[in-house]
Amino acid sequence: MFRRDGSPGWDAGRQRSQTRLAAPRGGADFALGRPGGEMIREVLRMGDPRLLRVAQPVMEFGTKELAALLQDMRDTMAHLDGAGLAAPQIGIDLRVVIFGGMSNPRYPDSPAVPDTVLINPELVPLAADEEDGWEGCLSVPGLRGWVPRWKRLRYAGCDESGRRFERSVEGFHARVVQHECDHLDGILYPMRVRDMRRFGFQDVLPSDAIASIAD
Ligand code: NI
Repeated sequence: MFRRDGSPGWDAGRQRSQTRLAAPRGGADFALGRPGGEMIREVLRMGDPRLLRVAQPVMEFGTKELAALLQDMRDTMAHLDGAGLAAPQIGIDLRVVIFGGMSNPRYPDSPAVPDTVLINPELVPLAADEEDGWEGCLSVPGLRGWVPRWKRLRYAGCDESGRRFERSVEGFHARVVQHECDHLDGILYPMRVRDMRRFGFQDVLPSDAIASIAD
């Protein structure tokens, strides 16, 4: 997830995906299809009011609707080489995030974060200390910002079958979880940037600003 090569990355991937339009599935929002049956959903961009909602908790697990949502999210995240994705980013008003980067060829240097489905999450800091780092977001294409996050936290929630789990994490893993779960409360990372001099376009920022979370 921390990019070091300055390649066009997910912005280019996104543009490619827009050449493959397909009919939406079963009343779903506008979607982008591709051969092989995956459903690549449109990722909403900052300014869309749906990104500002406080999302609703999932009440029922093990449904085919939830399985279909997760599959669409996985397909979309994989297609865009993202490190994570929150359901509100594809217009779904539910407290569902996915993240993980171990199999992402674009981020070979990133610390291992297990592929995770996290539903109805709760986050609790384990210490008061914060850490700053560069972030990007598929909903804020082309931009990067310097964002403070809790360094260590415990998170809990349910997997797709409704089984509860919790983890204590730090560093990059903690940053990804905070970024994704912010989407569930209508918060985009630019809202957390404290020094707006450290917010700008990826291709213009100084070279130390090329690391990012592309979700
Ligand atoms: Ni994001």
